[in-house]
Amino acid sequence: MNDLIGFFDSGVGGVSVLREAMRLMPNEHFLFYGDNKNAPYGPRPLEEIRALSAAGIGELLKRDVKAVVIACNTATSAYAEIIRAQRPDLIIVGMEPALKPAHFARHGGQVLVLATDATLRLEKFERLMALYGSDVVPVVGKGLVELVEGGRAGTPEAEEYLRGLLEPYMGRQIDAIVLGCTHFPFLRAPIQRLFPQAKLFDGLEGTAQRLKYLLDERGLRSDDTPGGVEYMSSGGEKSVALMKRLMEEPE
Ligand code: DGL
Repeated sequence: MNDLIGFFDSGVGGVSVLREAMRLMPNEHFLFYGDNKNAPYGPRPLEEIRALSAAGIGELLKRDVKAVVIACNTATSAYAEIIRAQRPDLIIVGMEPALKPAHFARHGGQVLVLATDATLRLEKFERLMALYGSDVVPVVGKGLVELVEGGRAGTPEAEEYLRGLLEPYMGRQIDAIVLGCTHFPFLRAPIQRLFPQAKLFDGLEGTAQRLKYLLDERGLRSDDTPGGVEYMSSGGEKSVALMKRLMEEPE
């Protein structure tokens, strides 16, 4: 069934998830919408994030989509339950910070969870913390989405900024770091350099696998060859160019 698989993010971060899904299902046809004009969502109030997510996902729903991936932890926390209730007919895959595997990777040290302000303050995260929150230190990744949206993820400026943000945790035993925002995998290398002993968890592969499982279960996989991707953005051509560049970025 050759309908589209829609991906939504506040900006370019969801490309990290899209890339994983395209690797896993190269015959599928993907449609990516980034609301770059309004990113970042993280510092916004809940009702605003909900309204923006509804509008962005609405852009995908104008087309023939068989599944929607909310490739954004923030939008998932704010809006996934609402859209699931409205569209029970549709496969909807959300994201959450990968606390569970990080929790089991501990060996006496702590887990840092880097995510947006909204992800860390909404109820979904509270539920995760109740299950896997021992020795977890939540850290708001203030300014990081802006670095990635500005195309500056691979620069010395990004490295310096991360050092400043994460300095307070560098003397501790950090066993694992959860990249709880889909923009942050594009900052993986400098984060790993600051914490060489820590294992990094991003949940990207798990999300792509979940999508594949749900499509298989409903017999909705594309039998066509080859697949492809179309990018759309509220930020215009410049944002689409950045999406394409990040798609090709080495990991
Ligand atoms: N990629 C979004 C996430 O996973 C970033 C949210 C934002 O725009 O602040 O949370």
